[in-house]
Amino acid sequence: MSRYHPVLISLHWLSALLLLLTSLIGVFRLVPLPNSPAKLIPLTLHMALGLSLLALTIVRFFVRRATLKPLRKVRNPLAPKKPFLVTMAEPVQALLYLFTLLMSLTGLGLTLQAGMLTRAGIILPDDFYAFPLRSVHGVLSSILFVLVSLHLLTWVYYQFLRGENALAWIWFKTPRPPR
Ligand code: HEM
Ligand code: HEM
Repeated sequence: MSRYHPVLISLHWLSALLLLLTSLIGVFRLVPLPNSPAKLIPLTLHMALGLSLLALTIVRFFVRRATLKPLRKVRNPLAPKKPFLVTMAEPVQALLYLFTLLMSLTGLGLTLQAGMLTRAGIILPDDFYAFPLRSVHGVLSSILFVLVSLHLLTWVYYQFLRGENALAWIWFKTPRPPR
């Protein structure tokens, strides 16, 4: 049974894909390369994907607000204590939105701080680390990595330890076959 609106489900998987691509380009195509013209192609791609994520995350936030009905939580004092992975699942989801947004905004801020966007095109600075937002962008990417790992651990917990088909919660409902 899916818990989420199909639009939200599509946005979840599209964001996950874009986040993966943007991060892989950042770590394996930007960090190791010197700031030579050869870096312009992966950097432009990284910026385009990062800005798409910014737009997607904003849209996703409003789609979530418009489509998700809050569950009425009933407190049962006799219920067994929930494992940490379950207790932190919801706050982690909220932080995933926040940190994805912060990544895109600091990335955009960095390009502005470094004066890269000119009428003549994109100009690379000698060293990105001369600008404070470069370190902020890097630290935030590590925090985002930890958050995604926690999110995946919760999924692994439900799917493989509790034996619930958690993936179906964030997948499209299959129509019932006609009788
Ligand atoms: C292979 C990777 C992923 C798997 C297997 C996965 C799995 C899931 C599952 C099972 C749920 C439903 C949780 C529930 O209802 O309790 C969910 C929801 C959610 N996931 Fe993921 N996820 C993945 C990647 C990501 C990434 C990269 C992000 C961060 C951008 C993310 C952010 C969220 C959020 C915010 C929700 C709540 C629904 C929403 O607002 O869209 N997920 N995910
Ligand atoms: C959610 C979106 C984004 C993610 C996940 C992301 C991820 C990353 C990562 C992982 C790195 C390497 C960090 C390190 O290891 O120290 C990086 C570097 C960088 N990113 Fe992003 N980024 C995003 C958005 C953006 C945006 C929107 C821009 C610009 C418009 C941007 C511009 C840059 C720049 C200029 C660098 C530095 C490259 C270097 O040091 O050579 N990023 N990003």
